[in-house]
Amino acid sequence: MFMNFWYPAEESRNLTDKPLKVQMLGLWFVLWRDSEGRAHCVHNTCTHRGGSLGDGKVVGDCIQCPYHGWKFNGAGDCERIPSLGPLAKVPARARIDAYPVEERYGLVFVFLGDLPEGERPTIMPNNEWDQPGWRSLSMRYRWNINYVRLVENQSDPSHIEYVHAGFGMAGKSTNYEVPKINVEETPWGAGAMVVFYSPELPDKDMKKLQPEGRNESGSGYHGAASTWTRVNFSPTNHMHIYLYAVPRDELDLEIFLVMQRNCMLEDKYDENFLRRMAVAVEEDRIVVEKLDPQIPSTAAIGEFIVPADDVIMNYRQRLLDWQQRGWRLDVDTLKRNRGRVAYSIASPARRQDPQNWAVTAAPVVRAAG
Ligand code: FES
Ligand SMILES: [Fe+2]
Repeated sequence: MFMNFWYPAEESRNLTDKPLKVQMLGLWFVLWRDSEGRAHCVHNTCTHRGGSLGDGKVVGDCIQCPYHGWKFNGAGDCERIPSLGPLAKVPARARIDAYPVEERYGLVFVFLGDLPEGERPTIMPNNEWDQPGWRSLSMRYRWNINYVRLVENQSDPSHIEYVHAGFGMAGKSTNYEVPKINVEETPWGAGAMVVFYSPELPDKDMKKLQPEGRNESGSGYHGAASTWTRVNFSPTNHMHIYLYAVPRDELDLEIFLVMQRNCMLEDKYDENFLRRMAVAVEEDRIVVEKLDPQIPSTAAIGEFIVPADDVIMNYRQRLLDWQQRGWRLDVDTLKRNRGRVAYSIASPARRQDPQNWAVTAAPVVRAAG
């Protein structure tokens, strides 16, 4: 799993002035809104003796530990240690890691890393959000998979024919082939557009969207765990699907889906789009949860790769690049010490002042593998 990316912690509508304890990258965090409505996210473990802050209270814009009442503000600084008395100055070393938060597309994104603002990867843009002529729908779901398997599944043009029988020829055409893929790279990802021939959509309203049965679709990834899909039913009818995923843990993935469309805009069609999407999601889940190994080797060891997998291989290469920058968490060490060391993902303040922290920073791996 990778630090130094933005991950969706929760839907904005679910974040209140009460503590919300969430797991991301196998570690625990707490989020809350202050009295001005601003969202905050800090590491869940109290520096005193390991209290779970997410099980405490929000008091005066701070999170208060349920064990001995230490209070931490949204910047992670400890503002009060009650046992020292009312006049005591609180040492800086009592602080916890605090993470940048951005609310976009109905989601609360947290930057889990220590990069300064100008060097951070971006949140995958959804340029149609709130634009006139576009309508959006959201869904969330949780799969027992490693995030790499989601990105591979979504960046994979050749599974549609076999997994989503209702979109293609269901494997019945003897002329089926995936045309040569032109991988287009973006600063934090890559993707490709491919032309599909698809029978008329069975639904009588949707049939009109795709009069020629020719459907130009494409997909790709952005960062470690976000993907996009563009379905052009015709030159003017489009549907774009954005998946923002967060590894709650190595084999526990929560996925926030935002679907944009510029056709059949009346709300009476929402249910239809959501139902079709839920079917496609389930079709993918059934296959992807059973993949072996659950976590593929970045170097494709034990696999036979074909040209239709080009975007996937591009993604794996990026994972290696990001690993060489020191962004891949050392999951083996984290797991081995679970319950004995309360690791915290290094935050931007830790990079400025690496020494003066009580809680141990989560280890990373750099070697290729
Ligand atoms: S463990 Fe949090 S205040 Fe003591
Ligand atoms: Fe799929």
